[in-house]
Parts: sequence; C-alpha cells; structure tokens
Amino acid sequence: MVLLFKSEAMPEAWVDALQALAPGLEVRVWPHWGAPEAADFALVWKPPKGELAKYPNLKAIFSIGAGIDHLASDPELPRHIPLVRMVDPSLTAGMTEYVVMSVLHHHRYMLDYGAQQRAGQWHLQGQIPPWRRRVGVMGLGVLGGDALAKLRVFDFDLAGWSRRPKEIPGVATFHGPEGFAEFLAGSQILVCLLPLTAETEGILNARTFQALPRGAAVINAARGGHLVEEDLLAALGSGQISGATLDVFHEEPLPADHPFWAHPRVIVTPHAASLTIPETAARYIVDSMAKACAGQPLDNVVDLARGY
Ligand code: NDP
Ligand code: OXD
Repeated sequence: MVLLFKSEAMPEAWVDALQALAPGLEVRVWPHWGAPEAADFALVWKPPKGELAKYPNLKAIFSIGAGIDHLASDPELPRHIPLVRMVDPSLTAGMTEYVVMSVLHHHRYMLDYGAQQRAGQWHLQGQIPPWRRRVGVMGLGVLGGDALAKLRVFDFDLAGWSRRPKEIPGVATFHGPEGFAEFLAGSQILVCLLPLTAETEGILNARTFQALPRGAAVINAARGGHLVEEDLLAALGSGQISGATLDVFHEEPLPADHPFWAHPRVIVTPHAASLTIPETAARYIVDSMAKACAGQPLDNVVDLARGY
C-alpha cells in the first residue's frame, strides 16, 4: 500500500509512527510521490493546488489538520474521493490548553499586569468571579466541545454557538444567524473555533465586535480568514475590544511590519495553538486506511457542500 505524504512539520516522525503501526506501508514523502497510479492514499497539509487530481487511484485524502480549507480551496480537488479531517486526542488537548490559557489570561487582566510590570506600576485590577464572566465559544465541534467541557471546571458562565441546534450541559447554546446577536450580547470573552467556510469567512468583523459587551476580549484560534484585521484594530483603538489573542492570520508568517506584532493589547502566536502529533494521530490514519480497504465507511468525512 502506498501513502503520499506532505507536511513541513515532523516528516520523519510521521513516517516512523506510520510504519511502526503498518510495517508494509510505503510512505512517499513530497516531492518524491512517484508514479501516480501506484498511490492509494494521501496524508497532506497544504499540497500544491491541482496536485491531488493527478492520482487516479486514491481511496481517501486525509488532512493532517482538523481544518480542510487548505484542500477545499483547491479548484481541482478530486471531490469524489472521501476527504477526511483530522480528529486526534493530542490535537484536541493542545487546543483546549490554548483556549483555557488564553481565557484565563484575559479573565485575570494579564495584558494589564504585563503593561504595569513594564512600567513598574503596582496596581490592583480587581477580580470578577468566573460565574460572572461569560465565555462564548463559536463552533461546538470536536474542539469547541472539549474546550467548553474543560472551561466548565472553572465555573465560567458558558455560551456556545453552532450552525445547528445543540444541547450541552452547563452551556447556554445558540445557533444559526438568528441566534448570533443574542449569543454575542453576553460574551465577554469570545473564542473562535469555527471552520473556515463561505459562511464563516470574515465573521469576526466590526458588526460582531459592536454586538459584544464593551471591553470584551477576542481569541481567534481558528483561521485568519475569520478575522477582518482592520476591524479588530479599530475596535481595539476605540476600547470596544479590550484585548485579543490571535494564533492565525490572513498572511502566515505574519508580515514583519504588521501592526499586530507591536500592539500592546494583542498577543500573537505563530499558528501554534495545537499541532497534530504523529505518535497519536498515526493510529487514526492506519485504522482509517484499513477501513477504506475493507470497504467500510470512514469517520469524519468532510461534507464539501457544507464546507466542513
Ligand atoms: P468541527 O467540524 O468538529 O466543528 C465545527 C463546528 O463549527 C460545529 O459545531 C459547526 O456547527 C460549527 N459551524 C460550522 N459552520 C458554522 C456556521 N456557519 N455557523 C455556526 N456554526 C458553524 O471542527 P473542529 O472543532 O475539529 O475544528 C474547528 C477548526 O479549528 C478547524 O476547522 C480549524 O480551522 C481550526 N483549528 C486550528 C488549529 C490551530 O492550531 N490554530 C488547530 C486545529 C484546528 P454544527 O455543530 O451545527 O455542525
Ligand atoms: C489544523 C491546524 O487545522 O493546525 O489542525 O490549523
């Protein structure tokens, strides 16, 4: 069996982890993908556009990330081949760590304390109990669901927003465009964990920021395309938004002259909220390939019409 592989991150670790579980597997690492007819599967992050269309016998395409926008944006993506998104316990745990860390950071005024430290100022910002701080999570899928479950341990007042109705114990849930304004109205810390689709592109914009309580914080760990960057800068300037933690950007790496780098109310991380760890994720890929070969249905196949 031949698996095409492309990722800049940890290629050797991926090959080792996959072959430890499937010793007969031939992993062809980009750009050495060989004869197109021989390839059975592809496991990829940002392959060149048009490339996957050249492999006529692929049984499935696996995204190395949870997001599949890097594949769905390829006009030549072979849409008849199942596209499988990454669901991996390490990826989920890493994102939950990032969200909890960032929520606590804003909740406990760490942007202010950091500024005060640099200025040598001793000044108490006060303390709001977690049950009076509403954290609103956009996206109630694998990542949003886990982040909310862990945030619940801190007794935050929790809200969530999804496309379809959902019930989650301890979380006030809202859905669809009709539930968006009410969801935003209470969210003092807004976390974006949506997939990037035609419907969600640019959703973190001036109207959204205006609908939040004054002084709300924004955490975007999903995709740069969700955020209208100039609208955030304006909302930070007016004080409508008090701070932002941003992991993803329109252009990555973030250009050296981008105003986010030096903004005192913005924390920048380099698309590092969570990585897919080969040691844990290889099991999912090997099991999924076995299912496909046995003609069984695959888990986590993307609905390309819906975009996630
Ligand atoms: P899932 O597919 O499990 O969940 C997606 C959620 O978003 C669902 O609850 C879905 O609603 C909701 N949603 C989709 N479209 C809309 C819409 N138009 N309006 C309201 N809600 C919507 O995705 P994951 O949780 O696994 O991943 C989410 C995203 O996180 C990824 O797509 C990726 O972009 C990003 N990510 C970023 C990483 C990083 O390091 N920065 C790492 C990993 C992922 P419903 O439940 O109704 O279907
Ligand atoms: C992902 C990512 O989608 O790392 O998993 O961005």
